[in-house]
Amino acid sequence: MLKISNLIVKVLDKIILDDFNLEIKPGEIHALMGPNGAGKSTISKVLLRDSSYQITKGNIILNEKDLLKMNTTEVAREKVFLISQNPIEISGVSNAEMLRTSLNDQGNKDMNVLEFNRYLISLCEKLNISKDFIHRDINYNMSGGEKKKMEILHMWVLKPKFIILDEVDSGLDVDSLKIVANSIREYYEEYKPSILVITHQKTLLDIVKPDFVHVLNNKKIDKTGDATLIEKVFNEGFSRVSTITRSEDNE
Ligand SMILES: Nc1ncnc2c1ncn2[C@@H]1O[C@H](COP(=O)(O)OP(=O)(O)OP(=O)(O)O)[C@@H](O)[C@H]1O
Ligand SMILES: [Mg+2]
Repeated sequence: MLKISNLIVKVLDKIILDDFNLEIKPGEIHALMGPNGAGKSTISKVLLRDSSYQITKGNIILNEKDLLKMNTTEVAREKVFLISQNPIEISGVSNAEMLRTSLNDQGNKDMNVLEFNRYLISLCEKLNISKDFIHRDINYNMSGGEKKKMEILHMWVLKPKFIILDEVDSGLDVDSLKIVANSIREYYEEYKPSILVITHQKTLLDIVKPDFVHVLNNKKIDKTGDATLIEKVFNEGFSRVSTITRSEDNE
């Protein structure tokens, strides 16, 4: 589904990622952890073709196509969906309008409006957000946590096959974090998408249950393991986990 090979990414002539490799197969959940400023959000933005990030080497294959030749719309049409660390506010476009237009773009032309509205209301109830949000502008004047929940609502409507969650937990209170994490896991159980989850939160990982865990440090993934690596990171910290990597490599 996604294969990133030997990627070098620069921002303003500074190398952020150097020889970055990652492969995600259909239906796999991968967690990406790492210290602040390591480049986790950078990779999510590269995948959505943010033009501030220059790729000077390497390649990215998405669904057997060259992702670096696509623009953001073309990536979205491959059913890639990003919940970014800081979701943007779009005034003048309501959530319902954007979702209906996107579904039309997916070829879903004969949508029953009443049924569609009923579905949106049921999602609001599940996510514990006001149903008035459906007709409010996208993320406009919403609290940090409300924005994250609205993005989860978008996910359920747009039915992506590849989901990138960049600190979806930030801004969520303890109860909301559990609602959102369970909602992601429920979506996974139903549609089996591939997921790349970037987080500093153990609760989210415990509920979403990644198959693979990667630690990004020194501009590349320097440790990969199963869910037990999460425990190690929380008990020992990133620098110790990386030190362990280096001594193991030397054995
Ligand atoms: N558009 C940009 N312009 C300038 N510098 C940038 C830009 N985007 C990222 N950087 C720099 O690249 C590095 C990696 O940033 P990134 O946001 O990817 O980190 P992160 O791993 O997501 O950190 P955090 O855990 O704090 O979210 C940082 O040093 C950051 O300042
Ligand atoms: Mg980040």
